[in-house]
Amino acid sequence: MTDPRQSGKRAAARAAADEVRSHTKIGLGTGSTVAFALERLAERQRDEGLAFVGVPTSEATAKRATELGITLTTLEEAGKLDLTIDGADEVDPALHLVKGGGGALTREKIVAAASDRFLVIVDGTKLVPHLGATFRLPIEVLPFAWPVTARHVEELGLPNVLRTGADGEPYRTDNGNFILDATLPPVEDLAALEAGLDTIPGVVECGLFLGMADRVYVGEANGATRVIEAGAPA
Ligand code: A5P
Repeated sequence: MTDPRQSGKRAAARAAADEVRSHTKIGLGTGSTVAFALERLAERQRDEGLAFVGVPTSEATAKRATELGITLTTLEEAGKLDLTIDGADEVDPALHLVKGGGGALTREKIVAAASDRFLVIVDGTKLVPHLGATFRLPIEVLPFAWPVTARHVEELGLPNVLRTGADGEPYRTDNGNFILDATLPPVEDLAALEAGLDTIPGVVECGLFLGMADRVYVGEANGATRVIEAGAPA
């Protein structure tokens, strides 16, 4: 039997990938939902002659896109992107996001910020009443003296743990850094929290994506997709 979450991810990913037009530069996010979008883009490239170049947000996405025959470029080359398609770990009613479950948050944020439009693809379980309800906030930090950085993050009201891999060793991002996964209590002023995190020496980036999403595609288990536009949240 098909996993309903996978069906939702696939539906959302395909709907967003169907928005891509020819002769565009597309940011390619990271994660299991994006994997479905990559497949759909490759399918359209093959069947319809859709012409686009992709900017990957991770080594994993670059590898999968290359396997699928998608032409890639760098953000340096592209400069500005027409559209980015990416997943999320949580989406709140104002379409603020938590991202970084896959560890790619810093590149994802840079790529999304360089895009005219940012389309987010999720299954329905990612919609939450407030950020932090179901997922911890990933924060990328420099390995140097990371326990000191972790203490400063905790002093900001965010208890956290160092992310480790299956081998028990610290997880390394594509940038060679560590990830702290922080418990995020309901916060009234998320922008102030993000600004506070940004002032901590050693913090590279946090997984709060505030006011960045233009559109969220929510895939349902039955294969239907609901679209929520920024400014008119459900
Ligand atoms: C990667 O770092 C993340 O931001 C992903 O976009 C997010 O974790 C969603 O992943 P899935 O699509 O695998 O749920």
